[in-house]
Amino acid sequence: MKKISIIDTVDKIGREVEIYGWVDSIRDHKKIVFIDLRDRTGIIQVVGGENFKKLNTEDVIYIKGKVKERPKNLINPKIKTGAIEIEAGDLKILAKAQALPIPINTDGYEINEEMRLKYRYLDIRRPRLYKNLVLRSKTINFIRQFLFDKGFIEIETPILTKTTPEGARDFLVPSRLQKGKFYALPQSPQQYKQLLMVAGVEKYFQIARCFRDEDPRADRAYGEFTQLDLEMSFVEQEEILKLTEELFTKLVAAIFPEKQITQTPWPRLSHSSVIKKYGTDKPDLRKNKKDKNELAFAWVIDYPLFTKQTEEDYFYGSGQAKFAPSHHMFTAPHPKDIPLLDQDPLKVRGLQHDMILNGYEVGGGSIRIHEAKIQQKVFDLIGFNEDQKKQFNHLLEAFTYGVPPHGGIAPGIDRLLMAILGEPSVREVIAFPASSGGKTAVMEAPSTATEEQLKELSLKIINHK
Ligand code: AMO
Repeated sequence: MKKISIIDTVDKIGREVEIYGWVDSIRDHKKIVFIDLRDRTGIIQVVGGENFKKLNTEDVIYIKGKVKERPKNLINPKIKTGAIEIEAGDLKILAKAQALPIPINTDGYEINEEMRLKYRYLDIRRPRLYKNLVLRSKTINFIRQFLFDKGFIEIETPILTKTTPEGARDFLVPSRLQKGKFYALPQSPQQYKQLLMVAGVEKYFQIARCFRDEDPRADRAYGEFTQLDLEMSFVEQEEILKLTEELFTKLVAAIFPEKQITQTPWPRLSHSSVIKKYGTDKPDLRKNKKDKNELAFAWVIDYPLFTKQTEEDYFYGSGQAKFAPSHHMFTAPHPKDIPLLDQDPLKVRGLQHDMILNGYEVGGGSIRIHEAKIQQKVFDLIGFNEDQKKQFNHLLEAFTYGVPPHGGIAPGIDRLLMAILGEPSVREVIAFPASSGGKTAVMEAPSTATEEQLKELSLKIINHK
């Protein structure tokens, strides 16, 4: 006799077991009471007596009892424990539960999202959401093993850092030790991973949290999201595409075996051809859009290095410049197009690669500039003034000490899982996402700081509502 998970009761017929879990449902048949008991591995019918009448759904209980076969006509083929039940001996109530504010026995899409996020710890009891988190964990584990086997090492980079622009607003954190100064949370580990290439790491990856203050959308989490960030030295674009394609093709086969990839090798499409044919750079290439198991991966390459700068590219330069980077300012121009940087920048192709899936951009990367001269040129073209350029002196200096040619990619874990699972929003694959108004789940940050905290940071709040 020992404590076991509910799923492990199936081969214990005739034995006494101890199990723990939540009361999922109660059926009161006067003298006997049936309950379904739930833990993270499954659900099982427990038969109890009068003492079971005091139970409410979602109470947390302990049961000691005997595993018995159910009569043939009462077998439930829909669940793994459907051929057995537990005849309860001891019952202990470990915690009572009051009525839940949201139902958890549906798929949850019908419930107001604010409520789901406020009570996210209950929302995750919902099997659909729990399953998504399990699949997320398996996905990350698969990625790690795959990359370790290919000789990569996993390295963490700082969260309290300096601006690493990816085209969004930064989150700032005030410094107590250097009053009046701020850290920026990284929009991605882009500069650190390039510095790691200068450091001779050659094959780096990280399951990296990225922070961007931008308006949320269905495929964009507010505030923070997770990337598989990777970078390699001495590579050409071809090797990055091949490695990423092998990783995700194998990952789908291992973790999502019910899914079929529309075309392998993944099609490679030029930016100009997809724009011409589909009017977007992330076309949905599924053959049958109603089939929830179809995954149409593709690469989009040959992007122009620059787009025309618009007001949205507020970050770059003074607003006077004509050009903004298509991907980011560290992306290398196609070697053949370098002379065009002076003559006609909008004609320069960049060594950028976007990974698309079912109409979403699920990853982006590039071969990087590793020559200070070209990096300076790009800074000029996007309108950086001298102060803005100075923010990147550390990178340009690092490049003077022997920098290998390098490149990489960063598939977004949340968006990729959303697309694979056919979920309507990235929030369905994140344990505690922020709401669309930027409030964090359950804890409802941001919140005000105390006078003492502000004083210690030399901050004064003016003009807040
Ligand atoms: P990029 O900005 O294109 O590239 O981001 C790469 C991938 O990250 C995911 N992503 C997001 N997912 C959820 N919510 C968001 N707000 C969000 N923003 C981005 C997407 C996207 O394709 N440093 C470069 C990568 C590189 O060049 O190696 C970068 O961050 O899936």
